[in-house]
Amino acid sequence: MSYLAKNYNRKKISFNHGKGSYLFSTDGKKYLDMLSGIAVNSLGHSHPKLVKTIREQSKKLWHVSNAFQIPEGEKLAKKLCKKTFADYVIFQNSGAEATEAAIKVARRYFYSIGKPNRTRILCIKNSFHGRTLATIFASGSKKMTEGFGHVGGFDHFNFGDHKSLKKKITKNTAAIMVETIMGEGGIKVIPDWCLKELRNLCNKKKILLILDEVQCGISRSGDFFAFEKSKVKPDIVPIAKGIGGGFPIGAVLMNKKVAKGMTPGTHGSTFGGNPLAMAIGNTVMDIVSTKKFLNNVKKSSKYFFSNLNKIKAKYPKIIKEIRGRGLLIGVQLHIDQAMFIEKLMDNKLLTIRAAENVVRILPPLNVKRKEIDIALRVINKVCSEIK
Ligand SMILES: Cc1ncc(COP(=O)(O)O)c(C=O)c1O
Repeated sequence: MSYLAKNYNRKKISFNHGKGSYLFSTDGKKYLDMLSGIAVNSLGHSHPKLVKTIREQSKKLWHVSNAFQIPEGEKLAKKLCKKTFADYVIFQNSGAEATEAAIKVARRYFYSIGKPNRTRILCIKNSFHGRTLATIFASGSKKMTEGFGHVGGFDHFNFGDHKSLKKKITKNTAAIMVETIMGEGGIKVIPDWCLKELRNLCNKKKILLILDEVQCGISRSGDFFAFEKSKVKPDIVPIAKGIGGGFPIGAVLMNKKVAKGMTPGTHGSTFGGNPLAMAIGNTVMDIVSTKKFLNNVKKSSKYFFSNLNKIKAKYPKIIKEIRGRGLLIGVQLHIDQAMFIEKLMDNKLLTIRAAENVVRILPPLNVKRKEIDIALRVINKVCSEIK
């Protein structure tokens, strides 16, 4: 009997420790973790530098109120701003809070310049921005919103439908908010030319561009942010997942222009940006944002993609497409996704589903070549057995 509510369909497996790219189950089995808590464990499990940071910071100070200066948060905010388009940061605890804060920042900006009716946010239908009341309605998914009443203020267009996107912009639109790479939606990459068009469109209509990098950001794409390659500068970017390496941290990054609306009292969080979280965020940031680390992500990605494509060529009736960028990889199948994931798991390889019959592969960003080889061998084996 479990006293946990039934809002998850959990697999009958639990883990008691992890090391690097491996998870060890309570029944003594060793699994190669290629989902990283859904793009969270960016440095794998029990990374020595993160363990050291937690140990040292936990002896000094865990939590103080945001009523006071928090030097560790100042340090991380500075690093994030120096590395990216951003001028200011607000820290949160999760991705949904970060996207919700992004919406608030956009609305508040228009309020502060005397356009209080510009509140509507235009999003991709069946995207994923989190599970708070506002963010489920931002996601525009029937399944996610069913039974939860109504939160207004969001309009939707279909992925790739540029005509409808343009038509849906009204005098009340505040921002377009999209995931640079749709994660839950099936690892769909918005091409660079499209991001540029989005930026131009936002400039022309004098609205804001929010790029949700909760899943694809923090070096997962091979660049610190997935939009960097396009040279586009968004106005607001929510982040979470990878920046904490397993510790709950979220943040919303913004430029100077929009930050003006965020005056004292407009937003806050009891836990957001506390010293323990910030110490960890600083350590993750110092590791994942270096050129060497990013080059390594790119190398691992190239190797993974080229070999997955070889498997696809061998089994065209099983694998339809290999999608994604960096170490955010989607294997779209012709066959039943759940059965495939189960078979990978029987072979001690952990992956996770995404929409459009995609199996998501999200290894730790410091995954080793030999671990990628093991994953490839298992995927190949499972394909050969199904055939
Ligand atoms: C793109 C995106 N935005 C927001 C979220 C919500 O993050 P969290 O689950 O930390 O609230 C997710 C989570 O998967 C995500 O992928």
